[in-house]
Amino acid sequence: MKVRKPTVDVLSSGFIENEISMKKLLSELNSYYKLSKQEGSAAQIKRTRSRKKLLAREKIDLLLDKKKPHIELMPLAGLKHENGFGAGGTTVVVLGYVSNVLCLINANVSTRKAGAVDYATSLKNLRLSQIAKENKLLTINLVESGGANLPDQDRVFNNYGKFFFEMSKRSKEGIPTISVVFGIFEMSKRSKEGIPTISVVFGNATAGGAYVPGMSDYSIFQKNTAKVFLAGPPLVKMATNEDANDEELGGAQMHSSISGVSDFLAKDEKDAIEITKKIIKNIKKPTQNKFENDSIAPKFDKKEILGIIPSHLKKPFDIRDLVKRFVDASEFIEFKENYGRTMFCCWTKINGYPVGIIANNGVIFLESARKATHFIQLANKSNIPLLFIHNTTGFMVGKKYEQNGMINVGSQLIHAVSGSTVPHISLQVGNSYGAGNYAMCGRSFEPRFLFSYPNAKSGVMGADQLSGVMEIIKRNSASSLNKVIDEDKLKIEKKKLAEQADQKASVWHTTSEVWDDGVIDPTDTRKFLSLALATVYSSEIKGSSSFGVFRM
Ligand code: COA
Repeated sequence: MKVRKPTVDVLSSGFIENEISMKKLLSELNSYYKLSKQEGSAAQIKRTRSRKKLLAREKIDLLLDKKKPHIELMPLAGLKHENGFGAGGTTVVVLGYVSNVLCLINANVSTRKAGAVDYATSLKNLRLSQIAKENKLLTINLVESGGANLPDQDRVFNNYGKFFFEMSKRSKEGIPTISVVFGIFEMSKRSKEGIPTISVVFGNATAGGAYVPGMSDYSIFQKNTAKVFLAGPPLVKMATNEDANDEELGGAQMHSSISGVSDFLAKDEKDAIEITKKIIKNIKKPTQNKFENDSIAPKFDKKEILGIIPSHLKKPFDIRDLVKRFVDASEFIEFKENYGRTMFCCWTKINGYPVGIIANNGVIFLESARKATHFIQLANKSNIPLLFIHNTTGFMVGKKYEQNGMINVGSQLIHAVSGSTVPHISLQVGNSYGAGNYAMCGRSFEPRFLFSYPNAKSGVMGADQLSGVMEIIKRNSASSLNKVIDEDKLKIEKKKLAEQADQKASVWHTTSEVWDDGVIDPTDTRKFLSLALATVYSSEIKGSSSFGVFRM
């Protein structure tokens, strides 16, 4: 392993300009985080306090192991949605340790619209299900929700259903092993261990919400406050003319002694959380993070990342300067250092976890793509996870590159990314456009985790290129139809299109749509990647030796 001398001049005008610009973006990010952390109106919070109840984040704090790291996922989902319940929706999703086991916590924010599931929350639930399935993570639902957001029911309906479907799949999950006993094939019964979900119900869980504890492997109900029913008293009266009160229909005592929907009756919120911890201790062995012990902090200051990431996405920078500020001891072994130089590939460790890094250092040329394809195969041979760092506008275009088979070479890389079975983590630190995004394991290529910096942009192509291409198409089309172009109108349309494309490529839009798992402060890169790696290392990593056809 070798360490290079720092190449960053922290007093240079470029560094200072970058730092100012990133700090501005960080204050924008923090203002959005603040919105997300606001758990409803003052009146709703006052009412909850008067009912002597804890807020969602307070329950999460009680549940998490102290002194162990945790991260919040998708905090800005729905940030830009017009008909939603605000940034973050009505659930808080946290990845962290409970009873020494890495878990996903999904806490309903009952002080925001009674925790009803808006569209953004339904997207969060879907993504949470995917993360839990792929990483075999135990999920803990802290339940208090009025079910689907009724005025927006058409957009929520199917996603809500899928959340239950996935919970069921995880519960039965397991790979049946086949053992051979005296020459006879026999299915082993021990293999189907499942990925459990625990639901802790603190308040109302109505209609769809009632199926959350219903579909869980374990359910804990808080005495006197948990109310779980398919239909409340008014609806029952309307439907069947039956008179019934809350407790008879869905109270914690009733479900613990008569219906059997509740497995444990907790006397209060704290007791419910303690029962959850005990269950986890008994059903899951502590996660074995055998690599963590030899972790060494980076030698370079993480705060310098703010001055390294360019203020303008067109400005190039050396990706090694970023990598050195979050990997162990700032050390790495670079692969093919002098070949395909716009793709940086290296072996290193983050918080003791071995990882291969594939990072853009500009536009992807033929050699850069070949190098990454080779590197992905090596990672699969050695069962090592890969981190993709995106900063590219895509593959090199032009006559020379087309004639040299850029499409074939790019497709080989995309085949390698798709066929690879070691866990992938993606980090967007600048541009992530076009097929470059696909080749670097963008959202559609299913990385286990995907985080973005506040300056990141992604889409089919940059706004200027997109509006310019559309202008050429319109001119050619008009000419072939012998139509006269209205130049003023075209100019206005082009400007509008460029603005729209820029806004849609912005990280605030993409994170709002849950196309990433969160926009992060760049100085937290090591923290987020460490937990992501701890997660992927919690289950077996097995590389692939089989890929799609590499066209030559
Ligand atoms: N969809 C949209 N908004 C909802 C909602 C839902 N399913 N459930 C509650 N809300 C809203 C209320 O309109 C109110 O909004 P406001 O603050 O703008 O006035 C806010 O959430 C708080 O509701 P409130 O009834 O005052 O809270 P509560 O704690 O007293 O009662 C419930 C909570 C869940 C018992 C009650 O709101 C309820 O019965 N909701 C409907 C449940 C239902 O039938 N869901 C079916 C969908 S699957």
